[in-house]
Amino acid sequence: MTEKNQWENAFTFMMAMIGSAVGLGNIWRFPYIAYSNGGGEFIIPYIVAILCVGIPFIYVEYGAGYRFKASLSKILRKINKDYEYIGWFVLLIPYLILTYYTCIIGWNIIYLCLSFFKGWGSDTDSFFTQSMLHSTTNPMGIFSIVLPIFLAVAFVWVIIWFISHKDLNKGLGKVCKILIPLLFFIMAGIVIYSITLPGASTGIKALFTPHWSHGPLIDLLDVNLWLAAFGQIVFSLSLGLCIMLTYSSYLPKGVNLVKNGLIVALTNSAFEIFTAIGMFSILGYMSVTSHVPINDVITDGAGLAFIVLPSVFNNMGHAGYIIGPLFFICLFFAALTSALSLIEPLSSALSDKFGISRDKATKYICVVGFLISIIFTSGYGVTLLTYFDDFLNQFGLLLTIIIECIIFGWIYKIEDIMETLNENSNLKIGKTWKFIIKYFIPIVIGFMWIKGNFDNFINEGVTKAVIQIILLAIMIIVPIIFTRLPAKVEDY
Ligand code: PFF
Repeated sequence: MTEKNQWENAFTFMMAMIGSAVGLGNIWRFPYIAYSNGGGEFIIPYIVAILCVGIPFIYVEYGAGYRFKASLSKILRKINKDYEYIGWFVLLIPYLILTYYTCIIGWNIIYLCLSFFKGWGSDTDSFFTQSMLHSTTNPMGIFSIVLPIFLAVAFVWVIIWFISHKDLNKGLGKVCKILIPLLFFIMAGIVIYSITLPGASTGIKALFTPHWSHGPLIDLLDVNLWLAAFGQIVFSLSLGLCIMLTYSSYLPKGVNLVKNGLIVALTNSAFEIFTAIGMFSILGYMSVTSHVPINDVITDGAGLAFIVLPSVFNNMGHAGYIIGPLFFICLFFAALTSALSLIEPLSSALSDKFGISRDKATKYICVVGFLISIIFTSGYGVTLLTYFDDFLNQFGLLLTIIIECIIFGWIYKIEDIMETLNENSNLKIGKTWKFIIKYFIPIVIGFMWIKGNFDNFINEGVTKAVIQIILLAIMIIVPIIFTRLPAKVEDY
């Protein structure tokens, strides 16, 4: 038998949950998604997405994890022996995401070091794509490893292993309790400084003014606007990755799950809206000082963090030497606490089935994860990373949400989960929640899944299709192996 993981208190659990949710999605994805989907117009679908998808789905995982106190594969095996396979399929997805998430953290560490002396030079675009990534679209580029990135990624895996292999509270819990408040504090400093910059109001106005193109009624009927809002909430709250299920399985008795879930969802959104104000103030400053319309400076993802912002830090003079490092520290804290959560579902499932200690499980996971990550440190790495990301988010993440809703909403008695959730809460969840889990989420997310995969399929080149088919084969075969291997724990 393995030692039982248990949070020392509900606060540590909450910090870990916020650490998982607040990540790259909040800092570099939200501002762009909000702006490119109509700015102020986005707020309405966004609020609906939090209330109708985000919070209700959090409760499914909270309730299931807390009730069964086990990993998904074990829960499914308990419900019906034949379902164990589905559990391993779902659990593999956060792990595969982690293999490239660590690579982005590696780039971030390099930029953190460079930010102290603005080592990216004046042409930040060619520095990032060429000097740093040696990026190529030729698949043969997979054989040329970029050494600094390789070393940075190895370092990231060592950090992840070092924190995760320890006892739950001394490792993961302690790190989240320190880094999350620190992240919020530093980000507050960056945002407050940013709004004092000349041009900040231009940026903030661009972010919050609704850009109605056909008037509110017609615009709000646009399906894509709603899909963008649901997609942001799914990504930002790490829904469907079984992280919340695993974290809540570590809870002691007597925790108010309903209140806890509300705080996590609201804190996550408050953080991303607040951060977007800072990002847009900085972009407004850039637009005004370099006389470029804000439309032309805004972008998301790596382009924002590693090309646009370094160029703004260049223009800031001495302040750039402070704001730059602080920004990359924030990105590092946010991404690290998310990465630590992506390891947990698989690690807990391995311990449950094979009786290995947390220490051993994380060791295997980190070694294999690092070996997979190496492909992303090659010249072809960025292209591969984009293919993996598109596929895992579009195909994997949405599918796992639907699977979980079907399992816990239809196959398992949803009333039992409801009872668990209401056990320690004055605020009771009831029929509306049940309706959302059984009908609303599977239909909405199902529609997103079909539409997204269809669009992906139409626009796909041959190489991308081949790579995604290989990935799909891995996602199907590996769970078969885990299911077939005999359990080493008696009550499995
Ligand atoms: N919610 C985190 C983020 O916004 O970055 C973590 C995460 C979620 C990472 C979903 C990756 C992912 F596909």
